[in-house]
Amino acid sequence: MGYPHKPHDREMPVLSKYFGDAGAISLDGWKQRGGYAALRKALGMAPTEITAIVKESGLRGRGGAGFPTGVKWSFMKLDDGKPHYLCCNADESEPGTFKDREIMRWTPHALIEGCAIGAYAIGAETCYVYIRGEFTEPIARMEAALREAYAAGILGPNAMGSGKTVNVYVHRGAGAYICGEETALMNSIEGRRGNPRIKPPFPAVAGVFGMPTTINNVETLAAVPHILNNGADWYRKIGRADNPKSTGTKLFSVCGNVQRPGNYEVPLGFPFKDFLYDLCGGPLPGRRFKAIIPGGISVPIQTVDEAEASFMDYEGFVEHGTMLGSGGVIVIDDHQNLVKQIARAARFFAHESCAQCTQCREGTGWTTRILERIVAGDGTSEDLDTLLEIADNMTGKTICVLSDSCAVPVVTGIGKFRGDFEALIKTKATVMVPAVV
Ligand SMILES: Cc1cc2nc3c(=O)[nH]c(=O)nc-3n(C[C@H](O)[C@H](O)[C@H](O)COP(=O)(O)O)c2cc1C
Repeated sequence: MGYPHKPHDREMPVLSKYFGDAGAISLDGWKQRGGYAALRKALGMAPTEITAIVKESGLRGRGGAGFPTGVKWSFMKLDDGKPHYLCCNADESEPGTFKDREIMRWTPHALIEGCAIGAYAIGAETCYVYIRGEFTEPIARMEAALREAYAAGILGPNAMGSGKTVNVYVHRGAGAYICGEETALMNSIEGRRGNPRIKPPFPAVAGVFGMPTTINNVETLAAVPHILNNGADWYRKIGRADNPKSTGTKLFSVCGNVQRPGNYEVPLGFPFKDFLYDLCGGPLPGRRFKAIIPGGISVPIQTVDEAEASFMDYEGFVEHGTMLGSGGVIVIDDHQNLVKQIARAARFFAHESCAQCTQCREGTGWTTRILERIVAGDGTSEDLDTLLEIADNMTGKTICVLSDSCAVPVVTGIGKFRGDFEALIKTKATVMVPAVV
């Protein structure tokens, strides 16, 4: 039995191929598995050539928004004479998501290689890997791998003997969800409070230390060496033949009421029904799926019918009422009280709001209090209208989308599972909300 499960024959382990293989962690082991060939190749190319290949591959950001990576890199003006920075977003705080930490635990050199290629492509000599502070083991693995890479001359002032400077540093966060938002992340790197910044200016114009900056997710950057090694064409062909907008493989983290939770890497466009039943083993004995959240807690809740009709890519999920997001699949079955789950999500957002914007600071708090009142058996029929009105005031009105994210489960929960709310209000049932620690 492999880690954490033996891959199903329909999985496509590219980024996760060496998960569970302790031999892949060290520099020697990584080189034996073909490591750093892509960086060597990249350092012999012009930065614009690398960006062109990444653009052509169709790679899109795996951090949540799905922005095309090559296009983002092309926003960096290579001849502006300013220091450029790459920030690798390894904050991974979205509830339900646990794939970036596994990339760093098992294949730290894969991420370092992706970071080095990305930095060189955008004209940066420095990359900061911003890692969530609680990730003790991934941090230790990344720091050890960086020591090896510097000692071997892979990084530093003459990276791989190329005469080019590439530095990669680990920057530890302190476990605030908001620091995963790219501009809050940059403030945090600068030693400031992790509050999101108003855009414009966009990071490619004025980012970390006021200099042009690109921010990419761990999974995004880890995919880059594979694209350089195997070609843009190879990557572009992975996915649904009739959907050229979503290419490559994607890691999905699965948690909740399902037989086999864990990380699964599949080609984008994989049928979600097959994924839930064949790969993840379906519901627990004697139970039925009730609702699915496929992209981390911030994306709309799906009914089972919507989920079973979806293809697992950016467009496939949008067609069926939700988004791909971070790929954190949260499975909820018929033994769960959905209102309790939504109250818990709201409490998380209230706890994590940076409180800069009134709509978010007040909205997340009021949403939590009303939901907890309903859960405690003290809800009224007006509460649902009030929740929807608050959600409306929280959507599209703030500096970042944490506020919108809190509104999403409320709006989709009431919209698709109104009966659950009404039943609680009518029966005055009491349900305990687990505390967010
Ligand atoms: C509240 C909030 C939290 C976020 N947390 C993360 C995170 O933990 N990791 C991540 O990669 N992106 C996160 N993002 C998205 C980032 O702002 C950014 O879009 C992403 O890192 C860009 O990388 P990509 O283009 O490779 O996806 C978050 C966004 C918001 C609004």
